[in-house]
Amino acid sequence: SDCLSVNEKGHLTISGCDTVALAEQYGTPLYVMSEDKIRDTCRRYKASIDRYYGGNGAPIYASKAFSCKEICRIVTSEGLDLEVVSGGELFTALSAGVDAKHIHFQGNNKSLREIEYAIESGVGDIVVDNLSELCRIEKISAEKGVVTSISMRIKPGIDAHTHEFIRTGQIDSKFGFALETGEAFEAVREAVRAEHVELIGLHCHIGSQIFDKSPFVLAAEVMLAFYNKIYAELGKKLTHLNLGGGFGIKYKDADAAVAYEDYMNDVSAAVHASCEKYGLTIPKIYIEPGRSIVGEAGITLYTVGDIKTIPQVRTYVAIDGGMYDNPRYALYQSDYTCLIANRADQPANFKATIAGKCCESGDLIQENTMIQKPEIGDILAVLSTGAYNYSMASNYNRNVKPACVMICDGQSRVIIKGETYEDLIRNDL
Ligand code: LLP
Repeated sequence: SDCLSVNEKGHLTISGCDTVALAEQYGTPLYVMSEDKIRDTCRRYKASIDRYYGGNGAPIYASKAFSCKEICRIVTSEGLDLEVVSGGELFTALSAGVDAKHIHFQGNNKSLREIEYAIESGVGDIVVDNLSELCRIEKISAEKGVVTSISMRIKPGIDAHTHEFIRTGQIDSKFGFALETGEAFEAVREAVRAEHVELIGLHCHIGSQIFDKSPFVLAAEVMLAFYNKIYAELGKKLTHLNLGGGFGIKYKDADAAVAYEDYMNDVSAAVHASCEKYGLTIPKIYIEPGRSIVGEAGITLYTVGDIKTIPQVRTYVAIDGGMYDNPRYALYQSDYTCLIANRADQPANFKATIAGKCCESGDLIQENTMIQKPEIGDILAVLSTGAYNYSMASNYNRNVKPACVMICDGQSRVIIKGETYEDLIRNDL
């Protein structure tokens, strides 16, 4: 990522900070994020909405990628809205001072308590997943004497090519209403009829880590056709269209260099063409990226504790973190670029399997990956860990979650403290 470089000592740097010095100052494992990079990406998304839709709409940061108070503050200060999918993410956003009107509440099985909390907080948009939820929102809104703004989560029936656990737009998905079966249209009819909800728009999300632009274009077309049908057949004029997130990022050199502007350009052409075709006013357009806002802005630093060579098989390089701070290889066999941060200027000619410290064989960060020749005590950096690492971390084996440090203008500051052993037993009785 463009926030990374190598200094005269041969050390990896992030936004002008020496990662080896960071490891020394804060200890390892350590999440490090570049504020400069996050802000830059937010501005690029924002500029696309301005450019293609005259600012009519907004990028929404999907906070599941990395939710904490400081990141909520940073992205919303750049004019992004925020997506939350649980009471906990909502609480985090509100605690950070995010304006509830700019929060979109998603999720396929929001609890009664979460729905109440969202309505009480005045969340700007609840994205409804199913009919029971619609009834619950209507009932709670009626009890409270309010009208709640909602959108409908639609499965556009598009199968984006990505890992099966993270694709969501096809018909066999637990998320949202299906178009093909008529379910979505019936749900919209119900929502229009309901007195204490105001249906403002539609939402779809076709998957994650997608490089191909065509499924996004297709989704926009399918969604606008449905948007038009709602006006044509029910006389209901919607105003919002949220086309979801899912833009791919670079984990390995071989991954495509992503220009978000490219997706935005093609999708916007489809949006404009469809609106023209149906004679529709262009809705407020929202996109909902998570990974691409924080992913490449983050790295994780570890210390190498042991190097175990199994002759003719492989060499395990053991680090002081693992699946408890980054479960993505264990879950999805995800790609990562690893390197020795204190010898980043040396050739990566050593084949290593990076092993975590959890008590199971599957606790790996990467297998047979090329790094600089490792030594015990080296700092190992794993790149593009800003998304779905901290947010998916656990206390497995009662490991403590590492601290997170934010870098801005060459200065570092802690934005999340590392957990302590006391934190681990805080709720034990
Ligand atoms: N909107 C909705 C409704 C979503 O479900 C998601 C991601 C996003 C937006 C943001 O997608 P993104 O731009 O981050 O791709 N844990 C998996 C990723 C799960 C994505 C879930 N939904 C991983 O580590 O790869």
